[in-house]
Amino acid sequence: MAREFTSVGVVGLGTMGAGIVEVFARNGIDVVAVEISAAAVERGRATLTGSTDRAVAKGKLAEADRDALLARVDWQVGLDALHSVDLVIEAVPEHLDLKQRIFAELDRVCKPEAILATNTSSLSVTEISVATTRPNQVIGIHFFNPAPVMKLVEVVRTVVTSADVVADVEALCERLGKVDVTISDRAGFIANALLFGYLNHAVSMFESRYATREDIDAAMKLGCGLPMGPLALMDLIGLDTAYEILDTMYRRGGRDRRHAPVPLIKQMVTAGLLGRKSGRGFYTYERPGSPVVVPDEHTPVTTGAALADGARATAKVGIVGSGTMATGIIEVFAKAGYEVISVTRGAEKSAKVCEAVKTSLNKGVVRGKLSEEDRDAALGRVTWSATLDHLADVDLVVEAVVEELSVKKALFASLDEICKPGVVLATTTSSLPVIDVAMATQRPADVIGLHFFNPAPIMPLVEIVQTIRTSAETSATARAVCAALGKTGVVCGDRSGFIVNALLFPYLNDAVKMLEASYSTADDIDYAMKLGCGYPMGPFELLDVVGLDVSLAIQRELYLELREPGFAPAPLLEHLVTAGYLGRKSGRGFRDHTKR
Ligand SMILES: NC(=O)c1ccc[n+]([C@@H]2O[C@H](COP(=O)([O-])OP(=O)(O)OC[C@H]3O[C@@H](n4cnc5c(N)ncnc54)[C@H](O)[C@@H]3O)[C@@H](O)[C@H]2O)c1
Repeated sequence: MAREFTSVGVVGLGTMGAGIVEVFARNGIDVVAVEISAAAVERGRATLTGSTDRAVAKGKLAEADRDALLARVDWQVGLDALHSVDLVIEAVPEHLDLKQRIFAELDRVCKPEAILATNTSSLSVTEISVATTRPNQVIGIHFFNPAPVMKLVEVVRTVVTSADVVADVEALCERLGKVDVTISDRAGFIANALLFGYLNHAVSMFESRYATREDIDAAMKLGCGLPMGPLALMDLIGLDTAYEILDTMYRRGGRDRRHAPVPLIKQMVTAGLLGRKSGRGFYTYERPGSPVVVPDEHTPVTTGAALADGARATAKVGIVGSGTMATGIIEVFAKAGYEVISVTRGAEKSAKVCEAVKTSLNKGVVRGKLSEEDRDAALGRVTWSATLDHLADVDLVVEAVVEELSVKKALFASLDEICKPGVVLATTTSSLPVIDVAMATQRPADVIGLHFFNPAPIMPLVEIVQTIRTSAETSATARAVCAALGKTGVVCGDRSGFIVNALLFPYLNDAVKMLEASYSTADDIDYAMKLGCGYPMGPFELLDVVGLDVSLAIQRELYLELREPGFAPAPLLEHLVTAGYLGRKSGRGFRDHTKR
């Protein structure tokens, strides 16, 4: 029989604590909510009232239930109020000495059988536990932000936590409607160990002006389906908290440079730019604590007129290639009203591409997304050709041929001879340096990367890759074209992986390393990212879909270009690829797909 928890204490009512109070009170458990001062108690109370009022307004909570929920909370200053609770969860700032002091005090105040839990994200639960005389009753209960919404709880057991305590806490999580993964005490546990290197890298992209905050966030939301971009997430977490987590992970997690907090984070913390809680972080919010972003001096002007500023008129587009990407891109341009010339290496290939475009457009008609007239008009806009000479008078060329530098360079050299002056020459490469392709022409200022995502007709994102030679006019034209296609174009520099792959693949690689180290299982790691961070797929699900060979190739490129030791491909990934376990396409990757 699991232990009954009738009353719990929550210490610290900031970003996490106030949400944790709500989780317990919603589930019929009495809460003693403790802060250091009356003012801090009031802030915590205001957070809870705000959150429950919003739930009532949205019809998700009855007024009577809200009143009952609020009545379950006893607001107090000081730890002495916790003398008779069954369990305490501590959610004070991420400092070991502070947490140890609080645990020593809790040990003195709380009844002997009470369980003492910490919500720490990165500190050692073991080190916190030894500040008490009952380390076997100390455990980590790591909620995710926002606590009332996110389903995951990481239950962290130390080498001395008693098995009964673990079982009791697991049963409690179930009662709260949460999914728990139980793991041992390691810096960052599962989710943060995989998340924070990515967040820090995103901040460094912003700090080095590689891309704007809006573009970094849009890239990860639209390119990977994440619920929010990394910089918006840093604001939600709180920059002070994020700094402490990174700092601890750097020191505890083997001094991986990717966890050394980017200097900008410390500067922002010192300047009081803590994120949502202070009303300003990477973005500016309506008021402290509000989730509503308001425009500030960094907000880009995105009106049509501003976008078109300096852009060249584009009506006729040449698309070179006959693979999946070329096919999708032809459809995208034709549907958007452009006159398209498709160039392949022969009539047979053209016929195949034409068939594929027709099939895809027909699917749109069957699904009611496209009228028959629009389908016919789109097809009518495409001319099928097998010779590059037909591209002499187009305004834009999009190259989507095989991912081999020599092939692309030869093609660009030919385009340079054939195309009229002023044409924008774009490559869809996902891994080659755009500048190499640009320098194969006499007009590198007109060359740019347009990195579409697969499937191009569906994915809303295009990375616009500027080289150090790309002109402002070329860039403006690319942005205007993306807008006319109904895509979100994000602008970035010409580095390996651009934005999305550079941020995504090291995270996937880290997940493989975590599995390889036997810290957790593929299932639990997938759960942690889906239920703790709202990712649409877990890392192993995604790796099997993308293909392990493709993932390994991208990771190798990143490692070779950036020379970041932490980017070295996980040996397990290499072994699986060598063994022919490539993911769904070969029937087996991290999981066996032949049985499903
Ligand atoms: N922010 C996140 O997204 C997130 C997610 C999961 C876990 N965590 C962890 O939760 C913990 C709290 O983080 P946060 O982001 O809520 O921090 P926060 O700064 O928003 O809130 C901390 C609160 O603790 C209070 N406090 C400080 N000293 C206290 C004391 N002696 N007694 C009582 N209250 C005290 C502060 O007044 C403040 O209100 C940290 O360990 C953090 O790593 C944070």
